[in-house]
This record gives sequence, C-alpha cells and structure tokens, in this order.
Amino acid sequence: DWTMGAYKEEAIRLIREQVGDGKVICGLSGGVDSSVAAVLIHEAIGDQLTCVFVDTGLMRMGEAEEVVGMFRDNYNIPLIHADESDLFLDALEGVSDPEVKRKTIGKLFIDVFEKHATSAGGAKFLAQGTLYPDVIESVSFSGGPSVTIKSHHNVGGLPERMDMALVEPLRELFKDEVRALGRELGLPESFVGRHPFPGPGLAIRCPGEITAEKLEILRKADAVYLDQIRKHGLYDEIWQAFVAILPVRTVGVMGDGRTYDFACALRAVTSVDGMTADYYPFSHEFLGETATRIINEVNGINRVTYDITSKPPGTIEWE
Ligand code: XMP
Repeated sequence: DWTMGAYKEEAIRLIREQVGDGKVICGLSGGVDSSVAAVLIHEAIGDQLTCVFVDTGLMRMGEAEEVVGMFRDNYNIPLIHADESDLFLDALEGVSDPEVKRKTIGKLFIDVFEKHATSAGGAKFLAQGTLYPDVIESVSFSGGPSVTIKSHHNVGGLPERMDMALVEPLRELFKDEVRALGRELGLPESFVGRHPFPGPGLAIRCPGEITAEKLEILRKADAVYLDQIRKHGLYDEIWQAFVAILPVRTVGVMGDGRTYDFACALRAVTSVDGMTADYYPFSHEFLGETATRIINEVNGINRVTYDITSKPPGTIEWE
C-alpha cells in the first residue's frame, strides 16, 4: 500500500526526531494498536525500545502466553512480562463503579510502567497506541453539552507526577489504517485481524464487583463463544465479540437438580471505527448451539442471553 508506506517512513522520521537517543518503553496489551506501535517504534529506534506486557489478571484465556509468545518468536524486541495480577485484583476488590474501575486500573498501569522504566535503563518516553477515535470519543453529541461517556483510553496526557513524555505515532489513524500499517510492517495476519480489546480488560465485562470466581467463569464462557465464532467462520465479519458475566444469579434445572448460577450476555457488533456499531445478526441456530455449549461446558453459568443493542444508544462494552 503506497500511502501506508509513505506514512510509515514519515512516522519513523518523527519518532527519531522526538526521542533522539532516549529510551522508550511501550505497554503491549496484545491488541493491534499497541503491537503496531511497538513494531513501528522498533523499526525507528531499535533497542532503545523496551516493551512491557502487563498481565493485569484481567486478560482472556491464554492471552498472556499468546501475546508474549508472538513477540518473543517473531521480534527481537526486549520484552518484560510483568505479572501484576495480584496488584490489580487487590486494588479492584469491592469496586463496582465503572469509572472507578478505569481510574484504578489506569493509575496502576502508570505505577507499573514507572517501575519498569527504571529497569529499562531510565526510559524518558512512554509509547502508546492511541488512535484518532480515542482522541475524539469524548466529544459532544449533536447539539448537546460536551460529555465524557467513558474515560476510555489514556487520552488527555499523563498525571502531573509522571516523569515521561508520550510517544503516540498512531494518533492520526483509524483502526483500518492501523491494520494496513501493521501489514506494511509485516505483522502476521492473525494478529492484524484481531478484534480490539480494551485496556481495562475483563474488568469492564464483569459489571459490578469483580471476583476471581466471576473472572474464571467469564474466561471460560468467552473462550467457548470465540471458538464458536471461529468455527462458523464469522470472526472476520465481526468487529468485536465477547461475553459479559452479569451480576445476577438465576434458577435453572439440570438433570434432576436445581441450579442457581450466573447469567451471561453474548455481545457481537459490526463497526468501522468503534464510534458507532450494529449488533451482529447471528442465526438462531448459532445462538442456540452456543448457549447450549456454554451451559454444558462452563460451570457457574446456567442462562445465556444475547445483547441486541446497537451503539448508540448502547456502547460496545457493558461498562
Ligand atoms: P465503547 O464501549 O465505548 O467502546 O463503545 C468503543 C471501543 O473502545 C474500547 N474501549 C476501551 N478501550 N480503554 C480502552 O483502551 C477503555 O477504557 C475502553 N472502553 C472501551 C471498546 O472495547 C471498543 O473497542
């Protein structure tokens, strides 16, 4: 792609100009954005870059291994795998408000990055895969007052106390452009085509209080759901798909016993940039088969619902 080739060269020039011979750390989330940012910055400044994958304990099943493995096997980028799940889960204990969850997680991310900036030779720069829609999501809706729907993303700069400058080479791009840039940089197609995954991870797919038990159930249900989507060849037609575990138990019957387990909601949407979205029109066969599999295979869930809300008026995530 000619345009992306030119964009890449210009972005590399700007990164070099900004960081000089300084050290940079880049938080890898496993998503397309941070991966593309990392590979681009690595092309620009080589070993001045260290990546940090923070395992928050809020990742999906097998995700940490997948991301770390992909980077270790394909790239020569120094990578720190920081297992901080206890730190995050302890801090989130008893927290049920979505914005408090985001702020708690955002603050801990910065603590962790600062800690590793030192071990990365005193990094003065923090790289992020911020996209254009992240920058403009908190704008006003037609005629109404400017209102922040979610304190999404890390837009708006870092807290005063943070001693690092931001490097955000994707700030002008939309998701499809980031994917094109990723291809230009030679990232594997399986990675470039990955669905977006939010920074706060499963925390915002577990409305209400987060517990280790709920996270475990959620991870299993989500894995079955994604397996179904892949098996039916639907993954690439969908912008994002996930399970939310609901903060409610309902009564069911299994064999000749009563169950009293969690309900969950399946979510799948199509979208171009995440700013608006339509729910995905699965067939009833697909939905029925998926519900049966989840209830049979996942201990702790006895009811499955499908969320048919588009955005607006809903948002993609439940929190
Ligand atoms: P919503 O739920 O606002 O999400 O319709 C739009 C897109 O943004 C992702 N998202 C987030 N990403 N931090 C992130 O890095 C967040 O706090 C956050 N909240 C939502 C969401 O997954 C979707 O792709």
